[in-house]
Amino acid sequence: MTKFGIILYGTAIACMPSQAKAATHTDSTPSLKHVFAKHFLIGASVSPKNIKTEEGTLLLKHFNSITSENVMKMEPIHPEEHRYEWAGADSIAAFATRNGIRFRGHTLVWHKQSPKWMFLEPDGSTVTREHLLQRLKDHIFSVAGRYKGQIYAWDVVNEAISDNPNEIYTKTPFYDIIGEAFIEMAFRWAHEADPSALLFYNDYKETDPVKREKIIQMVTDLKKKGVPIHGIGLQGHWSIHELKSDALEACLNDFSKTGLILHITELDLSVWPGEPERRVKNERDAADGMTPEKDRAQRELYGMMFEKFRKYSNHIQAVTFWNISDRHSWLDEWPVWGRKDHPLLFDEALTPKSSFWKVIGQ
Ligand code: GLA
Repeated sequence: MTKFGIILYGTAIACMPSQAKAATHTDSTPSLKHVFAKHFLIGASVSPKNIKTEEGTLLLKHFNSITSENVMKMEPIHPEEHRYEWAGADSIAAFATRNGIRFRGHTLVWHKQSPKWMFLEPDGSTVTREHLLQRLKDHIFSVAGRYKGQIYAWDVVNEAISDNPNEIYTKTPFYDIIGEAFIEMAFRWAHEADPSALLFYNDYKETDPVKREKIIQMVTDLKKKGVPIHGIGLQGHWSIHELKSDALEACLNDFSKTGLILHITELDLSVWPGEPERRVKNERDAADGMTPEKDRAQRELYGMMFEKFRKYSNHIQAVTFWNISDRHSWLDEWPVWGRKDHPLLFDEALTPKSSFWKVIGQ
């Protein structure tokens, strides 16, 4: 057992039969999950499709935790009030069990990728507060209940805190209709539905001290009220043009003082500058995004990041990448449709990049 009371790779998981399959992989490259076995779990987000491809084989070698990239979000899994689509999430859960990989749940409550019906009465008017609370409760009990005991950690609420320094909560239908109580209720219901799962508040841009302070205030208040919240998720969608060592240090240091478990939940390091809105491709985007300079910058920043993750590994329990390799990442479609990005540790041929070697200290 670890400091977090969960079993990392090397003990229980190593005994599972599927590890034999991973171990027969002939590639002599060190495995990320073995290199970091004493520090934290190494995760990746997956889809029901990509786990069946070569990326799935790479996953078995290097990763011991997975997150569903999309199929457990509210809209895909609960497209109509009385209809759930379980097939995708079930197949990922079965893959995790079969291969002795930990499974993170993502996400129970998020205003994006949530279905329109959730906020409407049958006559098309805005749903009442009471009705929305009932729907939220039903949703959480159905989804967290179905995967009870299979999920080690749930992102219960995603992105509720505003980027705007002048407001605390983002104006979303959940917030506008229920008020901030939707957050507390979501945690309480998730805990009732699956008492063994660790429950996380997950967000991005936490290196911004103003946003971070709001998150710390919120989780501290929740804890004071006795709400079952166990961790903070740092998405970590960063860019080589923006991530700074001192900002990351301050972020990990401040969050570590909350006493909550930290998960890096959606790690990638774009080779393009971050942009808040989607836009069409222009000439500047036409050239391939990867250059020797960007490769070098990415390597140094990944090295810096993992040095800090190691330093704070008494607090960090899992580091999850958002996607497996540069063969496909959501950043190929965001913020510019069709512009290739190279944000991960494995390239399009699934070969470890210079960033990979830096991360493992070679
Ligand atoms: C947010 C969400 C993720 C994913 C990414 C982009 O970070 O939490 O589920 O949608 O955006 O793909």
